Amino acid sequence: MSNYHIKHLEEYFQVYRKSVHNPELYWAEIAEEHFLWRKKWDQVLHWDFNKPEIIWFQNAKLNITENCLDRHLSIRGDKTAIIFEPNNPEEKADYITYNQLHKRVCKMANVLKDQGIGKGDRVCLYLPMIPELAVAVLACARIGAIHSVVFAGFSATALATRIEDCQAKLVITSDGSYRGAKTIPLKKIVDEALEKSKVVKTVLVVKRVDIEINFKAKRDQWIQPLLDKASPKCPIEIMDAEDPLFILYTSGSTGKPKGMLHTTAGYMVYTAFTFKNVFQYQEEDVYWCTADIGWITGHSYIVYGPLLNGATTLMFEGVPSYPDYSRFWEIVEKHKVNQFYTAPTAIRALAKENLDFVKSRDLSSLKVLGTVGEPINEEAWHWYNDHVGNKNCPIVDTWWQTETGGILISPVPFSTPTKPTYATLPLPGIQPALVDENANEIHQNQINGNLCIKFPWPSVARSIWGNHQRYKDTYFSAYKNMYFTGDGAFRDEVGYYRITGRVDDVIIVSGHNLGTAPIEDAINEHPAVAESAIVGFPHDIKGNALYGFVILKETGQMRDRDNLSAEVNQQITERIGPIAKLDKIQFVSGLPKTRSGKIMRRILRKIAGKQTTEKDLGDTSTLLNPDIVQEIIEESY
Ligand code: WTA
Repeated sequence: MSNYHIKHLEEYFQVYRKSVHNPELYWAEIAEEHFLWRKKWDQVLHWDFNKPEIIWFQNAKLNITENCLDRHLSIRGDKTAIIFEPNNPEEKADYITYNQLHKRVCKMANVLKDQGIGKGDRVCLYLPMIPELAVAVLACARIGAIHSVVFAGFSATALATRIEDCQAKLVITSDGSYRGAKTIPLKKIVDEALEKSKVVKTVLVVKRVDIEINFKAKRDQWIQPLLDKASPKCPIEIMDAEDPLFILYTSGSTGKPKGMLHTTAGYMVYTAFTFKNVFQYQEEDVYWCTADIGWITGHSYIVYGPLLNGATTLMFEGVPSYPDYSRFWEIVEKHKVNQFYTAPTAIRALAKENLDFVKSRDLSSLKVLGTVGEPINEEAWHWYNDHVGNKNCPIVDTWWQTETGGILISPVPFSTPTKPTYATLPLPGIQPALVDENANEIHQNQINGNLCIKFPWPSVARSIWGNHQRYKDTYFSAYKNMYFTGDGAFRDEVGYYRITGRVDDVIIVSGHNLGTAPIEDAINEHPAVAESAIVGFPHDIKGNALYGFVILKETGQMRDRDNLSAEVNQQITERIGPIAKLDKIQFVSGLPKTRSGKIMRRILRKIAGKQTTEKDLGDTSTLLNPDIVQEIIEESY
């Protein structure tokens, strides 16, 4: 018997010990007992972090959608798979059963096939949070096409970069999307992107809002008539365990986003297992994750993890503030949500509003609360615990990354005692390590270090699309024989982990990963800008906000600074998207640099965070231009 479902603390420790003592046996038992395979594996795990190469369930054959859909039909075909809650509360919710979802996925898969899409082809999905997005994800997986979902808040330029990088043949989008009171013209953004990237042959358009759109002959078509004609049966493509399942872009420390490549079997086993345990999902429960499917959280814990477990997963199209700040709680009440998973930034935003928004709703259905995406501060944790959970629901602070595919460090509710701001203990199979600046593993507790993982787990990303060297350099080169997360962590006296934040050039704003380099590249393209540096600084709601230090060219010196600030932000919005806009812009005459010309962000971070005593700033003597520091401080906000 595998230990698929952990129910108490002793069991957790017992399972954890087994999982690290013999990971191959541990995962093989789970894989064997809980999934459908067309052929079993020859070897459970082959790995070499130096290459790096990681193979799980070698030579096994399967299709993940058979596991998400087909195998449930005889036992829970009429159970709701997806609840769709629209942006506008006046519009009716939709309840899609497993039978219906299966049909819709098959139809969409057949439409893709008719358009010439087959195994290994890349399909870009640029859609709002509507059921078609989940259907399209699964339709790709059914026929072995590799989906690349791009969050529909990204700009045309950002979309074009992602389409170009993976050479997507086809895009599925919608005419537009609703976000609160706004309508966003998604098809128009796709049109602009495709002016820049010519690789896409076909654009299929879902009708969601009523706006005029342009159709480019031969390239663009409404998807509905094609779906209407398509057969509701589509055989699965039999996939190898290590065949690519999807690409998902995440920010890195250079201008180019990293297309993290996830493969089939390991991702399936790990997301299913972690969904079951971290949320303690029971057959009749309604589970809701408020993330967007455009991020990894949506991939793993709206679509794959829940459906692999035959769960009912809620998809919400809108935003927490529309029509007012009770929207989340109204949805919890209406659908009797049992597990609720959101981001600290959303909690902080909601906690600032009148308590009546939450108090006036019946939240007694809730059993487990979760957070993800950034460290949760103590105050937000208590507000969530007191007012949403009514001190009655364990909070799972789940730490993980796009690269890890699934949750790695988190309490198991009802087993692991929680502790505010701590992600607590590693899940089974996860072997974390803290490493000091000399690359030595630190064994004692009550200490800070860089967080690494010493042993592969099934859902680790296998590569960066088209750039394996970058994958090696980013994750497997800093420390020998370890995966480096880019995060710092503190381990307390009992071994609980608390994630302290990024130690590299990635900044987490409102739970979104933003690299400094792409933002700086966008700013530097402004004709008046010579150079720029971006750092994060603490922000009440967003966790971090962005502070830009900008050097102007001579031509820019005479310009009005307010106008220039607005133009810089406009430039960022066009190149990346509004999520990357700067909260503060300071025009400076120089930036603190090392003698080798590297910007000393450490110092800029201190200035942005208003920590400007000599002690705060540390040693500035190695700077090429130490005088600039005082000048920047004097002119800072
Ligand atoms: C941060 C999101 C503290 C962390 C699933 C990580 C967290 C990055 C937590 C990955 C948490 C995620 N506590 N920090 N519970 N969860 N992070 O790729 O810095 O969008 O490296 O994946 O978010 O962000 P990503």
